[in-house]
Amino acid sequence: MSEVSPLLKARGLMTTFQTAQGPVTAVNAVDLDVYAGEVLGLVGESGSDKSVMLRSLIRLIHPPGTVLGTVEWEGRNLVDLSDAALRRIRGGEIAMIFQEPMTALNPILPIKVQIDENLRAHTKMDASQRRKRMMELMDIVGIPAAERRLEEYPHQFSGGMRQRAMIAIALASSPRLLPADEPTTALDVTIQDQILNLILDLRDEFSMSVVFVTHDLGVVASTCDRVAVMMPGGSLRRHPSSTFSSTLTMPIRGG
Ligand SMILES: Nc1ncnc2c1ncn2[C@@H]1O[C@H](COP(=O)(O)OP(=O)(O)O)[C@@H](O)[C@H]1O
Ligand SMILES: [Mg+2]
Repeated sequence: MSEVSPLLKARGLMTTFQTAQGPVTAVNAVDLDVYAGEVLGLVGESGSDKSVMLRSLIRLIHPPGTVLGTVEWEGRNLVDLSDAALRRIRGGEIAMIFQEPMTALNPILPIKVQIDENLRAHTKMDASQRRKRMMELMDIVGIPAAERRLEEYPHQFSGGMRQRAMIAIALASSPRLLPADEPTTALDVTIQDQILNLILDLRDEFSMSVVFVTHDLGVVASTCDRVAVMMPGGSLRRHPSSTFSSTLTMPIRGG
């Protein structure tokens, strides 16, 4: 096996929240590697800090919550990076998609404005190039009647279409890493399959890596190259002295 260095390399990642009962360590000394082009599953039962873990990778933790450790990305440490520099990476090189698009999408802006914001922020395209790219992105994520749909608001989309719209927004910045936090959990089973297949196709087409958070082991088996298992303290986490949370990673296919 050849030595390939990871695209993203987290070491000693530690996320702590302040609560009325004192500090609670939600992510405790986690090491995690994400390789180029892979789909890494991040699994664990509900409440096992999967979402906190994913957000910690891009320091999307609100103060007074803190993130310690290192997350190496393109020669930079995301844990130490300035807010301004980190904002360029988030939604840019690393574009996250969420379980419930309705909370991630802006309800008062048409979809086109939300895609365009990303194109403006992360590309040098002029208005007509951006318009063309928006139409392409709608096609890539499988939203028909793009011309009309771009003018519509999130509430006019079905759950599956909303998730596709959120993926279009994420893709606008040509990300290299797509952290996806239970992107299909809120959807009907048949729609879940469609969105999963879409994400896998996009991974191939755009050579992205995907960190796929799910509690569904069936989904992991059918979609992920490797899996990391969150092992929380569950109720133990209430007591800071006995917090316990770490990850194990193992290959799923091929080894
Ligand atoms: N801002 C916060 N302050 C305190 N605790 C938090 C905060 N955010 C998340 N947590 C705790 O982290 C735990 C794990 O949450 P989460 O990552 O959403 O789990 P999962 O995604 O695995 O279901 C929750 O039980 C919650 O209490
Ligand atoms: Mg979660």
